[in-house]
Amino acid sequence: MKDRYGREINYLRISVTDRCNLRCRYCMPEHGIRPVDHKDILSFDEIGRVAAICAGLGIKNIKITGGEPLVRKDTAYLIRKLKEISGIRKVTMTTNGLLMEKYISELIEAGLDGVNISLDTLKEVRYMELTGSAGAEKVLKAIMLCTERGLATKVNMVPVAGFNDDEVGQLAALAKNLDVDVRFIEMMPVGQGRLFQGCSGSDVLKRLEAIFGQAHAEKSHENHRKDSGSGPARYYRFDGFRGRIGFIDALSRPFCSQCNRVRLTSEGFLRPCLQFETGENLKELMRAGCSDKQLEKAVQKCVFGKPSGHCFNSFSKDAEKTGFMSKIGG
Ligand code: 5AD
Ligand code: SF4
Repeated sequence: MKDRYGREINYLRISVTDRCNLRCRYCMPEHGIRPVDHKDILSFDEIGRVAAICAGLGIKNIKITGGEPLVRKDTAYLIRKLKEISGIRKVTMTTNGLLMEKYISELIEAGLDGVNISLDTLKEVRYMELTGSAGAEKVLKAIMLCTERGLATKVNMVPVAGFNDDEVGQLAALAKNLDVDVRFIEMMPVGQGRLFQGCSGSDVLKRLEAIFGQAHAEKSHENHRKDSGSGPARYYRFDGFRGRIGFIDALSRPFCSQCNRVRLTSEGFLRPCLQFETGENLKELMRAGCSDKQLEKAVQKCVFGKPSGHCFNSFSKDAEKTGFMSKIGG
């Protein structure tokens, strides 16, 4: 399915819950957000219905997000259902990793194709400061477990200037020792993220080169090798590393012109762009008894209305309109 700027939209991110077992300061306010009532969250049947319609229109890859997707009961069941939809090739998940050990077998059995695990610091005290809970060690274990069990695994770090940016080398070294890709994400001025100063990808790369020697850029067609091939990351290799180092430079190198995704929020809005509150209320439509044809029309309308790009760099007023990342699922 193409949008009006000719971008091929083949990737759907599905947030299955707005709840999270952490309170990362750049994502959620300290006391959390008022959780959405269960009845206002899409049921698995409703999510499956939207996914099937989207698959019919050309969506091939799905990412399950949250909040934290593993705090919703039976996320593995949903993954199994999504994998059964004809046209869906890969279903992957982003997670903070805390519940991974508990669910990994179910998830693998359900057919999960890969995970992105967020880990911003290896220091337990810092982890606590950032997220409100202990867990750095547990998440590191989860990362190792995922690789041992053969899941395609990526580690995501959001460097914050003056807080954890001194750890970019240690985090990158995970890709030296383990079969994981480690990706550095520029802080986006969404929700609480506006209060923090991130680090640019090129800054991080410079620091890594000072430690590990020259990085070799992967040719862009190789970027799409291992996983869903859906992401905006640029990848590099360092000599002697098992995995790759990636950069998601949403601010310094906007990738909107190659954007291939739409997002389904846990409340059932299909949102064409991370930055804007616009979108189609699919939940309302479905609960009013719409036909598949009507649902399909709404998805097409959303894709057609997809903005050409975000304006994080220019109109900060507009950015304020967006909600919390935990509701959108990144
Ligand atoms: N900017 C960039 N990344 C963010 N995340 C949450 N909020 C932001 C933000 N403002 C990341 C988390 C996690 C992923 C789901 O989104 O660190 O890796
Ligand atoms: Fe939870 Fe992820 Fe937000 Fe942290 S960044 S509070 S793990 S949803």
